[in-house]
Amino acid sequence: MPEISELDVEDDHDLQEFHDVERAAYGADHPHAVVRSYQSLVQRTRRPSPYYRLSLLMAREAGRIVGTAELGLTVEDNLHLADAAVRVLPEARRRGVGAALHEELVRRARDGGRTTLLGEVNQPLEGASPAFRFATALGYDVVHEQDHHVLDLPVPAARLDQLGTVAEGYDVVSWGNRAPDDVVGAYAAMHTQMGRDAPSGEVDHQPVEITVDRVRAGEQRTVEAYDQVVAVVRRTGDGVLGGYTLVYLPHDADHVVQDDTLVMPDHRGHRLGTALKVAVLRILAADHPGRRIVHTWNAVENDPMQRINRALGFRPVERELEMQRRV
Ligand SMILES: CC(C)(COP(=O)(O)OP(=O)(O)OC[C@H]1O[C@@H](n2cnc3c(N)ncnc32)[C@H](O)[C@@H]1OP(=O)(O)O)[C@@H](O)C(=O)NCCC(=O)NCCS
Repeated sequence: MPEISELDVEDDHDLQEFHDVERAAYGADHPHAVVRSYQSLVQRTRRPSPYYRLSLLMAREAGRIVGTAELGLTVEDNLHLADAAVRVLPEARRRGVGAALHEELVRRARDGGRTTLLGEVNQPLEGASPAFRFATALGYDVVHEQDHHVLDLPVPAARLDQLGTVAEGYDVVSWGNRAPDDVVGAYAAMHTQMGRDAPSGEVDHQPVEITVDRVRAGEQRTVEAYDQVVAVVRRTGDGVLGGYTLVYLPHDADHVVQDDTLVMPDHRGHRLGTALKVAVLRILAADHPGRRIVHTWNAVENDPMQRINRALGFRPVERELEMQRRV
């Protein structure tokens, strides 16, 4: 059996090998996988968030890492939850390496007082992935489904012009890695709303209040591995923010990750969601012409967002399943 141990995140050699294995194992089944960069792994493990504790495990055979696992524990909220991920190189599969790593994750989650394990599993559009079969065999159930969509860049300007008018009475404001001080409070409040409104199926997670401190801590940490582009819509009369969209640009890759898009409840129905996304696509074309593709994930039941993305030209490449199990 492999030897399972915790990785010393200060050890450059082991952390690099961990990352290589993660990339190879995940990429083997998922040609469209978005694997975090090494720089991002360094930042998340060596300069951890005050709100999230991460442990990395490795399975070694003959001195070589053949499988990796990760346990993520929130520190202040959702103290019943643990995020779990397991990855095994194709040549080491179906011999119990994944199960052994998972068993150690369960032991640690229990020690941390956690009662629910949550993991993400990717599925091809047809058939079942090894990850789905593995998670099902270990007693996980699907609690939420998202489409993984991609959009090739640049988007033809004619398509953006056709979709991109901002409703009367609003304008779009954008920024990069730091929200301006005069709007950061309203921006934080929109993140809190996002946590409440974004569909999350039966995932056993309680929404968290996003304070200005959390926004600032996130910005400071993110900038080590990613640039951000944020666009907000602002009502012109009173300056109230009606919605935002946020994308991440990893420093050492040529893709874009489209993260949150939210229109606040009082401002819905004016096509502001489309206007926000179009504004960001224009910024990407003008300021980041080297970016080739955008990835995004949308709840299958989220009709408004699905419609916006289809109109922009996004196409589905996989499903992402949230799978959950009681410890
Ligand atoms: C999912 C993954 C970690 C499984 O690793 P593994 O070492 O092959 O898993 P194990 O050998 O411990 O399998 C445990 C059980 O899961 C089930 N299972 C795993 N892979 C399977 C497959 N391809 N087909 C059917 N059942 C499978 C079986 O029931 C197996 O027990 P058995 O071999 O006694 O029948 C591996 O396929 C992988 O790295 N995939 C890519 C990364 C990924 O997507 N991870 C997401 C999970 S967070």
